[in-house]
Amino acid sequence: MAKKSDEPKLLKTNNDVADNAKKVSIGVLQGCLSDAIDLTNATRQAHWNVKGAHFSALHAMFETFYNQLFEGTDEIAERIVQLGGIAHGTTQTIGAGTRLEPYPTELLAGMDHVRALVPRYAKVAKTLRAGIDETTEAGDADTADLLTGQSRTIDKALWMLEAHLEPDSAA
Ligand SMILES: [Fe+2]
Repeated sequence: MAKKSDEPKLLKTNNDVADNAKKVSIGVLQGCLSDAIDLTNATRQAHWNVKGAHFSALHAMFETFYNQLFEGTDEIAERIVQLGGIAHGTTQTIGAGTRLEPYPTELLAGMDHVRALVPRYAKVAKTLRAGIDETTEAGDADTADLLTGQSRTIDKALWMLEAHLEPDSAA
């Protein structure tokens, strides 16, 4: 997330959201963009390398998830630009900005991927919810609404991941 000192200047736009709200939202959105792109790539890593008896179902489920995430990142990035910001999506920016732990690249077994993805989806959902509160407080209901929709999608994916685990191991 952007720090106060490297807060970008707003580009000119007729969008009438207050400047201070725009700045808060751009910072929140950029943090969420970095996390979501990182999670997209982690989910693709799982899609490509998953092995085992549940290959077919997991391979397909991971593909559904990363496609949803990809659509979500486009909405987040474009909202940044609508507010007069610059959306940063390069590999270098995402690597520096993500708040997720690096995804382990040695995983193969399906349930190992599920167990690795669960805390990452949970963290992204939690951070989106924190962003809803921040942008609501700043007075940008539209960004809060965007983040609300995305948190619901991530919650659903988290539920589907957790449903693969034994009933007492999801917590
Ligand atoms: Fe594929």
